[in-house]
Amino acid sequence: MYSCQQSMNPVLKWAGGKKQLLPLINAMLPNDYCRYYEPFVGGAAVFLSLAPSNAIINDVNIQLINLYLQIKNSVEEIIYYINFMDNKTCDLDYYLEMRRKYNKKIQTNTLDAECAALLVWINKHCFNGLYRVNSKGLFNVPYNNKIQGRSIDEENIRNISRYLRTKDISITCSDFEDTCKTVKANDFVYFDSPYIPQSNTADFTSYAKTGFTEEDHRRLASLYKNLMPQVQN
Ligand SMILES: C[S@@+](CC[C@H](N)C(=O)[O-])C[C@H]1O[C@@H](n2cnc3c(N)ncnc32)[C@H](O)[C@@H]1O
Repeated sequence: MYSCQQSMNPVLKWAGGKKQLLPLINAMLPNDYCRYYEPFVGGAAVFLSLAPSNAIINDVNIQLINLYLQIKNSVEEIIYYINFMDNKTCDLDYYLEMRRKYNKKIQTNTLDAECAALLVWINKHCFNGLYRVNSKGLFNVPYNNKIQGRSIDEENIRNISRYLRTKDISITCSDFEDTCKTVKANDFVYFDSPYIPQSNTADFTSYAKTGFTEEDHRRLASLYKNLMPQVQN
């Protein structure tokens, strides 16, 4: 575990984020394991609370993974860009301008510190902190109509950066099945996949343009059974 005195918190609000459930989840975690795997890391609430020394975190959302890589390698640049945006008064026009800028980064596959900063800033200013993309992969969540204060806790993000740089943490962007190919006995895998939507209109699976289908849930169930010999019949 990371021996930093201060705890680390998620940088983003993320649909399905587990920050509120941490006490319940922590009570069920194993005490002893080799490597920590989180194939659907999202906002990373459990990962940051546990702060394992040896881990693989993964998500299919490349902008999200770029954020964690940029926090690790270019945290001061991210802080600079976020403070620059925070110093402007946010209204609908400014929000839409920043959203267009972010979508340009997506379209041109520009994965840099500015793209990471835009993700954090937009997450604070969009409706409910949702992450939703359309079929072209472009972010389409509306403005939350609030003029807010700071979009970032600088001490927290620097703390996360230090942790990612000093521990053995792999940050990958792939499908969950690929991530789990290296799992060995005594590793701990924490799965928190997208849920099956309760209705056609309550669709929270659009974290990426491919969505998460029933077939994906079947692949996950089968992977789980393969990783847990004792649950196989
Ligand atoms: C419920 S969220 C995880 C929430 C996270 N535990 C937290 O506390 O914020 C599910 C995540 O799975 C990711 N995802 C969707 N399909 C995936 C896939 N095929 N492989 C890996 N990650 C995927 C989404 O981008 C999303 O971030």
